[in-house]
Amino acid sequence: MSFFDSVLDASVVLSFDRSGFRRHAKRFVSADMQVSMQGKTALVTGANSGIGFSVSKALAALGATVHLACRDEGRGQRALEAIRAELPSADVHLQKLDVSLLADVRRFADTLPGPVDVLVNNAGVLPDTMTRTREGHEVTFATNVLGPHALTSALMPRLVVAKGRVITIASGGMLTQKLNLHALQGQVAKFDGVVAYAQTKRAEVILSEQWATKQAEVTFSTMHPGWADTPAVRSSLPTFYSMTKSILRTPEQGADTAVWLAVAPRLAGKSGLFWFDRAPVSTHPLGFTKEAPEDREKLWALVETACATLKA
Ligand SMILES: NC(=O)c1ccc[n+]([C@@H]2O[C@H](COP(=O)([O-])OP(=O)(O)OC[C@H]3O[C@@H](n4cnc5c(N)ncnc54)[C@H](OP(=O)(O)O)[C@@H]3O)[C@@H](O)[C@H]2O)c1
Repeated sequence: MSFFDSVLDASVVLSFDRSGFRRHAKRFVSADMQVSMQGKTALVTGANSGIGFSVSKALAALGATVHLACRDEGRGQRALEAIRAELPSADVHLQKLDVSLLADVRRFADTLPGPVDVLVNNAGVLPDTMTRTREGHEVTFATNVLGPHALTSALMPRLVVAKGRVITIASGGMLTQKLNLHALQGQVAKFDGVVAYAQTKRAEVILSEQWATKQAEVTFSTMHPGWADTPAVRSSLPTFYSMTKSILRTPEQGADTAVWLAVAPRLAGKSGLFWFDRAPVSTHPLGFTKEAPEDREKLWALVETACATLKA
């Protein structure tokens, strides 16, 4: 990377925005995406809009069988039809899944047919008020951490058989947060949606690193998309959106690294990394965010205990 690139990347804005994508894209290897995913099966959560929709469409275009896991049947159906309209030979299927509910994850994992080569844990929320699911978990934590962990766990035998890949869409927002297990679960005097969200994204990255040490047959990756113009950004961060809308990435640009992680060759030995624009990046550019080893273990124990109902 040139000195000029390092300075622009350090600015964050000129890295996370669309100019950052265009600059980073100059080092992309186009042959990486010229692969056939024929015969491979991918599952994308939150596939009906934004980054999840773009990932699903790109994987379908490369020939993969793609399951769109969506919580709302109508929105999911519209996404399915939009992909089929653009790619008439696409092998895409709609699956109903509310990833925030462990019981629904269990039902879904039991009924999903066949092997899984690629799991993209994309569904995510950033609510500004604290609510709990009917299973009693704070919604951000349930959607962004517990459900994806339970889904990954439940599909693990099929991912192992396929020597598959698990890609989780994290966020650059997590870079400002040190893991706090109370804030992560919404156990705070005053709920701050942005902090709760960033905590869940920090947890996603740590769990992916832990999975990588436990399961060598599967490649685990987290990535952050930069700032992309999606329904979530418009509705959850209206002030941020109004200030940045002219420089936001397209959903396709935000999705690019996730698609690349799903299909690119040469990922052997690179499990457990955090990626941005097809390059591994530091999870702790700000020194103070490094969590204690015991907190990492507590996090794993916490999600495993919560998900135990799924295995019962
Ligand atoms: N856009 C960005 O700049 C940005 C930056 C950093 C990270 N991210 C991450 O990227 C991922 C995708 O977000 P996006 O920006 O593309 O926003 P989006 O267009 O709003 O997509 C979010 C998707 O998640 C789905 N979802 C939410 N809760 C769900 C649940 N309980 N079960 C199943 N699906 C659920 C939504 O479904 P509904 O349509 O039914 O709500 C929607 O399809 C998220 O994990 C987000 O945190 C995005």
